[in-house]
Formats: sequence, structure tokens, C-alpha cells
Amino acid sequence: MKALILSGGMGTRLRPLTYTTAKQLVPVANKPILGYVIDHIKDAGIKDVGVIISPETGEEVKKYIDNGRSWGIKVTFILQSAPLGLAHAVTTARDFLKDDDFIMYLGDNLLSHGVKDAIKKFKNESPAALIFLKEVNNPKQFGVAKLDSKGNILKLIEKPKRPPSNLALVGVYLFSKEIHKAIARIKPSFRNELEITDAIQELINMGSAVMSEILDGWWLDTGKKDDLLQANDVVLDEYVKRQIDGDVDSQSQITGRVTIGSGAIIKESIIRGPVIIGRDTEVINSFIGPFTSIGNNVKISDSVLEHSVILNNSTLCGIDRLEDSLIGKGTKVVKRNTHHKALRLMVGDDSSIEV
Ligand code: G1P
Repeated sequence: MKALILSGGMGTRLRPLTYTTAKQLVPVANKPILGYVIDHIKDAGIKDVGVIISPETGEEVKKYIDNGRSWGIKVTFILQSAPLGLAHAVTTARDFLKDDDFIMYLGDNLLSHGVKDAIKKFKNESPAALIFLKEVNNPKQFGVAKLDSKGNILKLIEKPKRPPSNLALVGVYLFSKEIHKAIARIKPSFRNELEITDAIQELINMGSAVMSEILDGWWLDTGKKDDLLQANDVVLDEYVKRQIDGDVDSQSQITGRVTIGSGAIIKESIIRGPVIIGRDTEVINSFIGPFTSIGNNVKISDSVLEHSVILNNSTLCGIDRLEDSLIGKGTKVVKRNTHHKALRLMVGDDSSIEV
């Protein structure tokens, strides 16, 4: 069994962050989403991994994966020259996949339980495809399944205008070589992409066995700001341990599950977990509330924040209260000491500010 991780695409739904970072490298609890995906694949015992990259962000993704060195896996990078769909990505990877079974994992998706059990089930039952479904509130934004009363799939529809159910296709799929035949028979969709959803529907049309399973754990598709904050909540809640490597002065109070990286300095501050603070970050005279991730080399002073994600090399100074926010790399949010009420902003394209 091989793995195919999709780490291309333009990340338009996560702009402005994705002007400078691949969407799969946006951190959740200070670790790129792609890192969790590779952990899951490695935990399932797969060592031969293909990674689809795009011309825009491929180099950055390659640099992060570093040939799989820290995971001990073999990585083959496969360039998809344009974002022409998930099924197109599979075709692009055909030389790598050969006729082997494979798991396809979208690099911006996360599953709570990893993929070990799914692979076991696939090996035992040998269907042409095994897919995962999860109830969502906004099925129009996904591929959606219609099932019969016994749970067999009747139909799969990509981004339906009138969803037949609220069961979305999760971005993790298991396939046998049959999928290549199905892909060869489909045409591009309304968004001009070769949809994997259509290819799986084609498998059903061809009479091949397609199994589905409704996920009981959480599934995160980190495509947008609010999804990313939610992913941060879930991952902080689940994974963060109390581990304090940085320096905390005697006037600071650290409660609950808080991870503080080496070289960090915490002075005269209150931190209530779950919180993660990266390397060489300074927090001075501030309150950091639950569900906050602060990256490396960030400077926070005289500020109150909670339920937010602050990426590397940013500065926050004199901010009375920041909530539900996502601050990109190298950003400055500073309160000026004047009576002047005007806001002075220099904000990048596609940013969003509520005042
Ligand atoms: C893709 C698939 C869709 C699936 C979703 C899961 O959507 O086409 O069927 O439900 O991933 O994340 P996209 O991210 O291309 O809009």
C-alpha cells in the first residue's frame, strides 16, 4: 500500500495567509497541518509516499518535508502543473502509484483517529474504494453522498446545489487500481476539474465495490479562517501537554496544559491553557487565555488575547482584547499612545478586520 498526499492547490479560501504559505503548511497548534497528515500515514505503517505539489508552493512543501527524513519514510514529489482536480492529481501520479493500492489524503484535512483502522478494513475487504462520510452543516461546500436505508451508496454529487443529505465526503480515500479506469471515463466538472467524487460515482456505475463508513471521530477541513480556529481548538484540546521549557518569572501564573518552547520568556503574565507558545517568544505583562497558539519569535506586551492564532515573528503591543483572531507571519498590531481615535492600518490584500 502506498500513500498519495495532495499538497498543491492555490489556497484561495485561506487568503491572505496563502499568499505567502502553502495552505497545507499553515500551522495548527504550531505545527503545519501536513505534519499531522504525514504522522498519520507513518503510524499506519506506510513508507512509500507520493506528494503532489504545485508550481507555486512546491518548493516550500519540499523544504518542510525534507525528503521525509524526520519521519523515516521515502517521499516522491510529483508536480501537478495546474489545479485541475483531485482525479487529475491521481492521473498525474500514475507512474508513482503503478497498480498498487493507495490511500489518498488531502494535505489540509485532519482525522481524529488517524488511518490505521481504515487501512486494516480495506485490506480485509478489498473493495475498489473505501470512502469516509461525516455529517456537516454546510453540505453544499463538499462532495455529498446519498445512501439507502442499509447504508449503501446510491449517489455521490460534488458541491450539490440541493444536497440530498448532510453527509460530506471526507478528504481521505482508499483505492485499488480500479480507480484509474474510472478516472479515464469521466469529464471535467462545472468548475473545470476532474473530480474524484465523479470517479468514485463512475466506479459504482461500473459495478465495482465502493464501501463507505461514517466517521465517529472529528474531521477537520482547514480551508477557511473559522475552520482553522476550530482546528486549533480541537488540536490544542487533544494534544497539548504541560511542558515548560522557556523561562517563566515568579510574578507569572501558568495554569493548565500550557506548552512553552525553549528560549521563550514569560514575565508578569497570566497564561491559562490549553495554550502553546513557540520558541524564543516573549510575553510581557499580558494575559493569554485558553485556545491560543502563539508561534516562534513573537513579541506580546501589555495585551489581552484568547482563542486566537498568532503566527511566527509577529508583534502585539497594548492590545486590550483580541479574540477569535488569526494573525499572519511578521504582522504588527500595536496600540499608539495618543488620544487620537483614528485607526492607522497597513493591511495586505484579502485581509479582514473588525473594529
Ligand atoms: C474536495 C472534494 C470534496 C470533499 C472535500 C473534503 O473539495 O472535491 O468532495 O468533500 O475535498 O475536504 P475541495 O477542497 O476541492 O473543494
